[in-house]
Amino acid sequence: MRGRALLLFFFFSAWFLFTPPLPGKDKSKAGSPRKIAQDFSKFVEIPGAEMAGAEQCAACHADLSKGFRRSAHAMQKVACEQCHGAGSLHIAAGGYSTESKDKIISFRDRSPEQANGVCLSCHAKSDHVRNWFSGAHQAQDMKCSDCHTIHGETRGKTGSEFRGEAAGIPRAIESRRQVNENCLRCHQKQNAEADLPYHHPIREAKMSCSDCHDPHGGSAGNNLKLSNTNDLCLGCHAEYQGPFTFQHAPVTESCLKCHSSHGSPNQNMLSVSQPALCLQCHSAHHNGASLPLVDRCTNCHNAIHGSDIPSATGGSKFIDK
Ligand code: HEC
Ligand code: HEC
Ligand code: HEC
Ligand code: HEC
Ligand code: HEC
Ligand code: HEC
Ligand code: HEC
Ligand code: HEC
Ligand code: HEC
Ligand code: HEC
Repeated sequence: MRGRALLLFFFFSAWFLFTPPLPGKDKSKAGSPRKIAQDFSKFVEIPGAEMAGAEQCAACHADLSKGFRRSAHAMQKVACEQCHGAGSLHIAAGGYSTESKDKIISFRDRSPEQANGVCLSCHAKSDHVRNWFSGAHQAQDMKCSDCHTIHGETRGKTGSEFRGEAAGIPRAIESRRQVNENCLRCHQKQNAEADLPYHHPIREAKMSCSDCHDPHGGSAGNNLKLSNTNDLCLGCHAEYQGPFTFQHAPVTESCLKCHSSHGSPNQNMLSVSQPALCLQCHSAHHNGASLPLVDRCTNCHNAIHGSDIPSATGGSKFIDK
């Protein structure tokens, strides 16, 4: 018996080791990291051109080159031609025109696939950017440069907002306010929600869209950073993290059973105001005479997110007073 189990074990081990990957997998949009790295180098190539060196570029693009020195990429020793391609033919042509436009990479003129290919030649494997391949923004033909500023001193002086670094470090990521306004420029629904009376402080730049969403994409649905919405919310609202002795079923299910995610006309960002919210699932009070139906059920049921205090009639009625 044991011998046979062992034999089966070896058989399956060998099967896993030697079976080639399913052919369909390679064709998936995401691809394997190795494949990604190989694919993108071609987007930085300019046939027949040679490297000229950044000093040459500075001769004609003086202001731009000066500004670039204070940029995030310059700090990383990334030089002009690593993004714009080898420059010798561009220089020989004396600049940029309709005829000579293939001799330098202009992010303006190149298709999104080509332009992004340049960035991805270095970034395809980094944790977040990898999500790009499964994201809605890629599918919408957006360019990395729609959201990232490469040249000059980036406005993201407040880089500390994003990664806890000392302020003043140049970033290729804009300031939080700038990021938000950029997102809201296209997302009209959230733009309106941000102005509702009760909202996450997006407009105030106390938080950014990218606190909850990965702007590059992801598999979590709605580009969210975490697939479990409650984990996402509780990351900042830890006071409602259970376990409570008595859980309120909808709370453990999803915060969004009662709350909006961006903004709402109702107090506490509730998706429906009280008491209608509660009456979606509960009938109005059984003994209305002694317990008047006031506008807020939580005037009495104040521990609505969960409680450790039992009720006389069993369970908890979420009254912690
Ligand atoms: C002999 C002068 C000269 C040199 C040297 C030169 N350029 Fe240019 N470049 C121009 C001119 C002129 C234009 C067209 C006008 C403009 O956009 O500034 C241009 C345009 C460009 C553009 C396209 C801008 C657009 O419209 O999108 C890029 C990118 C560029 N240059 C990069 C470089 C890089 C990188 C180097 C160094 C390898 C370089 N240039 C060296 C003169 C030069
Ligand atoms: C990390 C990649 C990267 C590096 C490095 C880089 N650029 Fe650029 N460059 C870009 C992108 C992206 C754009 C398009 C900007 C936009 O659309 O807002 C651009 C735009 C330009 C333009 C045209 C835009 C304009 O404002 O006229 C020129 C010219 C240029 N770059 C030259 C240079 C020179 C010279 C260097 C080196 C000093 C350099 N670039 C380094 C990515 C890069
Ligand atoms: C819709 C806007 C948007 C687009 C498009 C976009 N990004 Fe970003 N990117 C951001 C924001 C916002 C951040 C800051 C993320 C954060 O706060 O977690 C960021 C962060 C990054 C970072 C730093 C990640 C880190 O580890 O902190 C890199 C690298 C990056 N982006 C590269 C790219 C590349 C390459 C592309 C194109 C393939 C791209 N981005 C397209 C908005 C965008
Ligand atoms: C030659 C390689 C190379 C290319 C090409 C390149 N980058 Fe980067 N980039 C880097 C390195 C190295 C860093 C610093 C390490 C990191 O954050 O991954 C960086 C950092 C970044 C960051 C984070 C900066 C920050 O503020 O912390 C962003 C955003 C970014 N790159 C966007 C882009 C975009 C957009 C493009 C295309 C226009 C691009 N990069 C092209 C090498 C490159
Ligand atoms: C506190 C976390 C959080 C913040 C901050 C946040 N979102 Fe969301 N967002 C969510 C959640 C959760 C969902 C999915 C449920 C839903 O649709 O409300 C979502 C859904 C979305 C959707 C897809 C659904 C739809 O209605 O189109 C878009 C687009 C979106 N958010 C954009 C944004 C933008 C733009 C910002 C910044 C202005 C932002 N979000 C800030 C949590 C957040
Ligand atoms: C240039 C316009 C544009 C900008 C800028 C932009 N988006 Fe989008 N975004 C779109 C479009 C178009 C879609 C796809 C249609 C849709 O779902 O609304 C989309 C989709 C989304 C989705 C929904 C994904 C899904 O699964 O349905 C989220 C979330 C999102 N964007 C967040 C952001 C955030 C956060 C930013 C800023 C960092 C941002 N967007 C910047 C145009 C933009
Ligand atoms: C990145 C941190 C962060 C995340 C993640 C987050 N929040 Fe918030 N939330 C805040 C901040 C900051 C405030 C404003 C608090 C204040 O003004 O005192 C807030 C306020 C609220 C409020 C009170 C609004 C009001 O008008 O009184 C509710 C309700 C709320 N969040 C629910 C949620 C839900 C549901 C989620 C998950 C979809 C979530 N939060 C995710 C940071 C976050
Ligand atoms: C059954 C509906 C319901 C669910 C589900 C729910 N809440 Fe609430 N939440 C409320 C009500 C009602 C209030 C207002 C309480 C009051 O009136 O005192 C509230 C208030 C809040 C507030 C603002 C009050 C404060 O402390 O600043 C936050 C933040 C909050 N909820 C977060 C969450 C989070 C996070 C989740 C998911 C773990 C969640 N809620 C799930 C009903 C709910
Ligand atoms: C999405 C549906 C839903 C919403 C909205 C909801 N509840 Fe509940 N509630 C439940 C479920 C399910 C239970 C557990 C089953 C039960 O005992 O009725 C429960 C249990 C309770 C209990 C304990 C009942 C008992 O007999 O022990 C009280 C009290 C309660 N909810 C009050 C509220 C109040 C007040 C609100 C509004 C702020 C509210 N609920 C919103 C679904 C909901
Ligand atoms: C004046 C205080 C008060 C208000 C307001 C109030 N309740 Fe209650 N509720 C109670 C008390 C007290 C109990 C009984 C507690 C016990 O049995 O220990 C109770 C019990 C309940 C129960 C348990 C099942 C039942 O019928 O006994 C539910 C469900 C409930 N309330 C829902 C609501 C909803 C929904 C609202 C708003 C429409 C609301 N309550 C408003 C005080 C209140």
